[in-house]
Amino acid sequence: MKNILIVCLLSNKGGSGKTTLSTAIAGELHRRKLSGLLIDLDPQGSASRWHQQRDDKEPGVIPAQAHQLPGIVERANEAEADFLIIDTPPHSDSASLAAARVADVILAPARPGLADVAALEFTKDLIAIAKKLDSSYVVINAAPHAAAATEAKQAIIASYHMDICPVPLAQRIAYSHAFTAGLSPSEYDPSSKAGAEVKKLVTWLQKTSKHAVK
Ligand SMILES: Nc1ncnc2c1ncn2[C@@H]1O[C@H](COP(=O)(O)OP(=O)(O)OP(=O)(O)O)[C@@H](O)[C@H]1O
Ligand SMILES: [Mg+2]
Repeated sequence: MKNILIVCLLSNKGGSGKTTLSTAIAGELHRRKLSGLLIDLDPQGSASRWHQQRDDKEPGVIPAQAHQLPGIVERANEAEADFLIIDTPPHSDSASLAAARVADVILAPARPGLADVAALEFTKDLIAIAKKLDSSYVVINAAPHAAAATEAKQAIIASYHMDICPVPLAQRIAYSHAFTAGLSPSEYDPSSKAGAEVKKLVTWLQKTSKHAVK
């Protein structure tokens, strides 16, 4: 049986970048000729809307509820899928917890700034309940400049002792343009700065997941 990569995007804070990152990562894994699914646990259905815009219907996006996750993981394993990416809604302990429990790697996007950084306290508590702190990483997202990313990283380490993904994502209009087109930034324009960031993030993710405790 193949070793499936299960990644969940989790943050209690609305608008931190969960759906943007889920779709960017799923699209990039597909570009790397890997097969899998994006599970949309958010009743708002943003990831599903991204999929509706895609000409290429792979990877599939399945709207689902938290209690369906273990069954979906089992079927994905049987089908020898390469990846499952799980997008979660904000402010939902039950969905976040269920996703964290099945994930190999948890990515918690946070924008630089007090609101997103403060919300990590709650996100960290949820990850701790799922006993997944060792395989969770904060992804600094939508940083307006490099100094803001560095400052946020230092504040998060000092306050929460959480691991930080070494690939911060800058604030770039290409993220929303790609999303609207139903693409990952790396599919939308592989030579763009946003495309390069996403490729680097996914390369890091694939490497990191090999060390994740199952
Ligand atoms: N790196 C970025 N650069 C520019 N805009 C971004 C970036 N990341 C996200 N955005 C924009 O921020 C908004 C919120 O992002 P997104 O929908 O991914 O957040 P979310 O965490 O999924 O929100 P929710 O909690 O409501 O589901 C979107 O309009 C998206 O285009
Ligand atoms: Mg979302």
